[in-house]
Amino acid sequence: MEQQKEMVKPKTMDELIQGLYRIYSSKDIDVKEVQDLMESYDSNPQDWKQYAKFDPYRYTRNLVDKGNGKFNLIVLCWGEGHGSSIHDHTNSHCFMKMLQGQLKETLFDWPDDKSEGSMVQRSERILLENTVAYINDSMGLHRVENVSHTEGSVSLHLYSPPFDLCQTFDQRTGHKNTVKMTFTSEFGQKIKSPSTASQENN
Ligand SMILES: [Fe+2]
Repeated sequence: MEQQKEMVKPKTMDELIQGLYRIYSSKDIDVKEVQDLMESYDSNPQDWKQYAKFDPYRYTRNLVDKGNGKFNLIVLCWGEGHGSSIHDHTNSHCFMKMLQGQLKETLFDWPDDKSEGSMVQRSERILLENTVAYINDSMGLHRVENVSHTEGSVSLHLYSPPFDLCQTFDQRTGHKNTVKMTFTSEFGQKIKSPSTASQENN
């Protein structure tokens, strides 16, 4: 008989985090199980507003939990028109749950090392509140943008294993750069001396 994994619907983001710890305490991680758990949480701003620190000029990354070294949980705040560059995910798994508003995700093929030229855009979609997107490097690259002119967006990202370097890509040439990712806040506290603003990523 097929074994059914029991999933308890988290009522708060803390319960969601507890559920994630439970999943990541095991050796074999089922991507679908993580995705289903994150999707089953109904976003409540009371749970995450302490992490949602917007910046007028670019999107922010706010560390929520270090997942016992297994994963990083990060709240990203996207003001109107803010977007990432095209980027990879450093051989990690990336889950992105919409907590507020919408984001546009555009998928790209990896550029061909030998040929110069514009990168191939494969598809795009709008991510609605509470949905969870998943990507890893085998699926390609993506760009994420808040295309709204009136509403900020907030998304909750889980990266496993955690990483702080990724590659960004120039859409016109396919040229890549390695960038270091930084946090605007950690555990609800603003980082005092933001080093030179990191480049856009993730
Ligand atoms: Fe990403």
